[in-house]
Amino acid sequence: MKIRHAVLVVGLFCSSLVGTTLFAQGTLSVSANLALTPPMGWNSWNKFGCNVSEDMIKGMADAMVKSGMKDAGYVYVNIDDCWQVRRDVNANIVPDPERFPHGMKAVGDYIHSLGLKFGVYSDAGSRTCAGRPGGLGHEYQDAVQYAAWGVDYLKYDWCNTSTQDAQASYANIRAALDASGRPIVLSICEWGTAKPWLWGKEVGGNLWRTTGDINDRFGGQQKWPDGSCCSNGVLSIIDQEAPLYSYAGPGHWNDPDMLEVGNGRMSDTEYRSHFSLWAILAAPLIAGNDLRSMRPEIHDILTNKEVIAVDQDALGRQGQRVAKNGDLEVWAKQLRDGSRAVILLNRGESEQRIPVKWQDIGYAEHLNAAVRDLWEHRDLGKFTGEFSAQVAPHGVVMLTVRP
Ligand code: GLA
Repeated sequence: MKIRHAVLVVGLFCSSLVGTTLFAQGTLSVSANLALTPPMGWNSWNKFGCNVSEDMIKGMADAMVKSGMKDAGYVYVNIDDCWQVRRDVNANIVPDPERFPHGMKAVGDYIHSLGLKFGVYSDAGSRTCAGRPGGLGHEYQDAVQYAAWGVDYLKYDWCNTSTQDAQASYANIRAALDASGRPIVLSICEWGTAKPWLWGKEVGGNLWRTTGDINDRFGGQQKWPDGSCCSNGVLSIIDQEAPLYSYAGPGHWNDPDMLEVGNGRMSDTEYRSHFSLWAILAAPLIAGNDLRSMRPEIHDILTNKEVIAVDQDALGRQGQRVAKNGDLEVWAKQLRDGSRAVILLNRGESEQRIPVKWQDIGYAEHLNAAVRDLWEHRDLGKFTGEFSAQVAPHGVVMLTVRP
C-alpha cells in the first residue's frame, strides 16, 4: 500500500510538473510563429476614422477578395477605433449596437468565410484615442472576448495611459492574449515614445509603431492645427525609421504606420514612392483606402507583386539608406537569395539622375549584376560597378540587383 501510495504521489507530482511545463510551453507557443513576414491587410482609420460599421467592413472584405488584394497577399481586415461604446454590467466590452447589429463574432465569421483574418483595436489606457472604453484593468476579460469573436489581430493604442509603464502594459496584454489560447498578432501602437523597438520583441509584440500618426502627405513634419507636434508625411516617417533597421526581423517589425495610398492628397508618383519605401523598410502593408472604389492606378500600386515580394522576403531584413546626396538617396535591402532590392529616391522638385554604386549595397565593384525595374516589370540588362537612372521629382525607381 505504502509503495503504491508513494508511486501515486510521485506520479501526481510528475504529472503536475509535466502539466506545468506543457502549460508554459503552450502559452509561449500560441503566438510564437506569428507575423514571420510583415503583416498585410487593411484598416479603417486612415480613410473612415470613427465611421465604421458592419456593412462597410463586410464590403471592404469582399473588395479585398474581388480586387485581387487577397491574391497579392493582403489578409487582415482590421477595425480601428470606435467599434466599442461602453461596458455592460459584467464589464464586458459592448460593440456599437447600431453600427454592428449582429455583434462582432458575426463580422469575424464573415471575414473568415472569405479566407481572410479579423482584427480589432483597443487601448492600453482607460479610454481609446477617440474616447471609447479602453482595456485598462480588463485585459484578460477582453482577450477572452476577442478570442470568442475569432479575433486574429489586435492593435493596442496608447492614449489615456497616465503613468502606466509601456513595456509592462504591453507585456500584460500579450500575456492575456496568449492565455486566451488563440494566436493573435499584437500591434503595439505606442508611437515610439518609449522606444518600443528596444523591448517590443521581448514582450511579444509583433509590430510597433515608431512614429506619430501618418498624414496623407509626402513632405516632412507639420504641426497639428492646435499647435501641438506633429503629423508626419512620408519623408518625415522614413527619416525616423532609417536608424531603426537592426530591430526588425521575422515576427517583430518596425511599423511606420498604415498606408495612405489612394486617399487622395498625394500624386500617383508620390503614392508609388510611399509604397516602395514601405516595402524596402519591411513595413507592415496595411492599406488605408476605400478598396471598393480604387482607381486602376491605385490598384496597380497596392497589388504590385514584385514590390510586395521585397516587403515579404523571408530573410526579414529592413532596408537601409546607403547613400545620400542632398535630396537624392539610395536605399537597399538584402534579400534571401543574396540579391538586393534598391530604391533610387528623389526628394527634390526636379528630375534628377541617381546612381547606385555596387560598393554601397555590399557588392564588389567588379561584379556583373542583372538589374530589373520593379515598376516597369522589365529586365534592364547587366551592369558592372554601378547603375543609374533618371528619377522624377518625389519619385522612385525601384530595382533588384542580382549577381
Ligand atoms: C491613434 C493611432 C491611430 C488611430 C487613432 C484612433 O492616433 O495612432 O493610428 O488608431 O488613434 O483613435
